[in-house]
Amino acid sequence: MNAYFFSVFLLLNAWTAVAFKPVIFMHGILAGPHESQDSFNFITEEHPGTQLYAIDAFNHQESLQPMWKQVDFIGSEMLKIMALYPDGVHLICFSQGGLVCRAVLEKFPHNVDTFISLSAPQSGQFGDTNFLKFLFPNYIRDNLYKVLYSLEGQKVSIGNYWNDPHHQEMYKNYSDFLAVLNNQTSNPDSQKFKDNFLRLKHLVMIGGPDDGVITPWQSSHFGFYDSAEEIVEMEAQQWYINDSFGLQTLDKRKGLTKYVIPGVHHIHWHTNRTVFDCCIKQWLT
Ligand SMILES: *[C@@H]1O[C@H](CO)[C@@H](O)[C@H](O)[C@H]1NC(C)=O
Ligand SMILES: *[C@@H]1O[C@H](CO)[C@@H](O)[C@H](O)[C@H]1NC(C)=O
Ligand SMILES: *[C@@H]1O[C@H](CO)[C@@H](O)[C@H](O)[C@H]1NC(C)=O
Ligand SMILES: *[C@@H]1O[C@H](CO)[C@@H](O)[C@H](O)[C@H]1NC(C)=O
Repeated sequence: MNAYFFSVFLLLNAWTAVAFKPVIFMHGILAGPHESQDSFNFITEEHPGTQLYAIDAFNHQESLQPMWKQVDFIGSEMLKIMALYPDGVHLICFSQGGLVCRAVLEKFPHNVDTFISLSAPQSGQFGDTNFLKFLFPNYIRDNLYKVLYSLEGQKVSIGNYWNDPHHQEMYKNYSDFLAVLNNQTSNPDSQKFKDNFLRLKHLVMIGGPDDGVITPWQSSHFGFYDSAEEIVEMEAQQWYINDSFGLQTLDKRKGLTKYVIPGVHHIHWHTNRTVFDCCIKQWLT
């Protein structure tokens, strides 16, 4: 490369660098800001100069705190970052972090351009993974509602989005988080939540059948079990049909993208370069 081309290259680099919107990463359950590392390396390689922020709050055991407590703090941290970038930011939110981010998007007047929901249980969780067995050793999946659908159970993050298809009335009575986000219980702020959510330009949903943790895995694409544990896809969910928080509107204006990717176990979504190259990179402009 001669000197002329090299300086043009530098100029272009500097010019494109300012064009990429900043990215905020929100970690999953029992993890911390370190979880962003591989994704941030990929972004820096592909889009050098991108400003990167990893939320450093409710790390590890603290991630079991109630969801609204997390959302209120993390939302105000995110708003401080967003205030620095009037042209908007992107979010990459992994697993439970994807629900934290969805709640931030509904509760706060944000300026998020694209929200990458990376294998997040957007319709809730109904599966006894190893860590649930660790937290509640004496309960099996079908009995967990007894502990999670209670005032005490709602003090644990997982209780806030536990969605037992066989106990929907109790879910609506007790879930003070997911049912509120979906406007399944009357939320006096539902219209404000919907307006905030619709400030979003794109929602990119990533998940797949070999996830092994998100159950059913279709929850990563807003699908869920019915009472026979058959999958009801997003488009047939009552809160989609009612457009309860704006998902249908977002879909109709071509703001929803769904990627179903086989061959990826839950803990590898944010470290897998193929996933980044196929389904994340092009959104971070
Ligand atoms: C749900 O709440 C309603 C109203 O408080 C009550 O009548 C009903 O018994 C509750 N159902 C369950 C399953 O807890
Ligand atoms: C959807 O709308 C119907 C009719 O207005 C209402 O009965 C139902 O509770 C709503 N459900 C949700 C989840 O918004
Ligand atoms: C939320 O649900 C209530 C009760 O069903 C309804 O009156 C309200 O319009 C809903 N909000 C939105 C944004 O659909
Ligand atoms: C990475 O993702 C691809 C699919 O995009 C998959 O085939 C591969 O097995 C994954 N590798 C790991 C280590 O998860």
